[in-house]
Amino acid sequence: MSQQDIRVGVVGCGAIFNNHVTGVKQANGAVLAAICDEVPARAEAKGNEQGVPYFTSFEEMLPHVDAVNICVPSGLHAKLGIIAAQAGKHVLVEKPVDITYKAAKALVDACESAGVKHACISQHRFASAIQKAKEMVETGALGTMVQGDAYIKWYRTQAYYDSGDWRGTWELDGGGCLMNQGVHYVDMIQWVMGGVKAVRAITRTMAHNIEVEDVACSLIEYNNGAIGVIQGSTSAFPGLSERFDVHGKHGSIIIEGDKVKLWEIDPEAADLGPYGRGVLEQPTPSVHVLGGEKEGTGAADPSAIWGEQHNMQIQDFVSAIHEDRDAFVTTRTALEPLKVILAIYESSRRGGERVEVAEMEA
Ligand SMILES: NC(=O)c1ccc[n+]([C@@H]2O[C@H](COP(=O)([O-])OP(=O)(O)OC[C@H]3O[C@@H](n4cnc5c(N)ncnc54)[C@H](O)[C@@H]3O)[C@@H](O)[C@H]2O)c1
Repeated sequence: MSQQDIRVGVVGCGAIFNNHVTGVKQANGAVLAAICDEVPARAEAKGNEQGVPYFTSFEEMLPHVDAVNICVPSGLHAKLGIIAAQAGKHVLVEKPVDITYKAAKALVDACESAGVKHACISQHRFASAIQKAKEMVETGALGTMVQGDAYIKWYRTQAYYDSGDWRGTWELDGGGCLMNQGVHYVDMIQWVMGGVKAVRAITRTMAHNIEVEDVACSLIEYNNGAIGVIQGSTSAFPGLSERFDVHGKHGSIIIEGDKVKLWEIDPEAADLGPYGRGVLEQPTPSVHVLGGEKEGTGAADPSAIWGEQHNMQIQDFVSAIHEDRDAFVTTRTALEPLKVILAIYESSRRGGERVEVAEMEA
């Protein structure tokens, strides 16, 4: 540990814990300083395994760290994050930022008024193909955007839902295939397309004994006038790779499992913006330029979630602290996919009525 190393504590020694421990240990400028879990045997086992002090009380861990990575059930993210921010600790929460707008906004406000750095995991934003797609849409290289679709047709067994008493509950999971698994690609599509204005949706619980939805279909109106669909599932055996399709007047990009499947722009199109005719270098499918591509997939197996993008996001969080800048995905940024998902749930509750995303701020 050097004098400048940020001392990070990880709270929640469950399924995603290892991604955070690995991410902190590989990050330049950080050191794993403590871990915490409210289950004593779990805290002890992971503390001993990592060779760091362990705690069963989050508050008791705080004096030993400068920053916390919060990996507890989703409906507790804001509660713990606010305690940490008010103690002057930098805060990284797992996705979703929280499960209600009110709680999530309270976390954002607490972090901003405490002046601590804050971030919410959205690791797919670190995939080069996604970043390049964002750049292409933003610079107008695809022409006027007409359609944007995200499909997250994953599979989870009943045993997965039974493996934790918070899973599949409104109180702590806050939703099902969209709030938990789908939030990644909801974030990708809304980010790349420049934000969602309104939704119309149907969600159902079809294949599991859970409170929340395990299948969801929604029609999307984007802020830029384009339309599209978001479909989520944890009932689609055997679990398909997540995918998104964006279509502009002059081109299409299809990304599946963070890898380019199709990347075509009409060479005759007049409005390629800064890419101009003949200047654009089109990546061939499955060839990437920036790094951060995913080899494993959580489509059928949650334990297979690949860690490199977590490493990249944790490094970004640590660097943001050292460089006194915002993290790439702040908790404020993470309000956007949350609002889209909440609007989808509200539309389904209202029988598929059109719901404006801004209504979710009320
Ligand atoms: N980014 C991703 O790809 C990804 C993947 C999986 C999970 N997650 C997110 O990570 C979070 C945790 O998910 P998981 O699957 O690891 O859950 P989990 O149930 O496997 O682990 C949660 C752990 O938190 C502990 N805990 C609960 N309340 C606590 C408290 N108040 N203080 C200390 N410890 C407490 C539990 O004892 C448990 O060990 C969720 O928000 C989930 O959405 C993200």
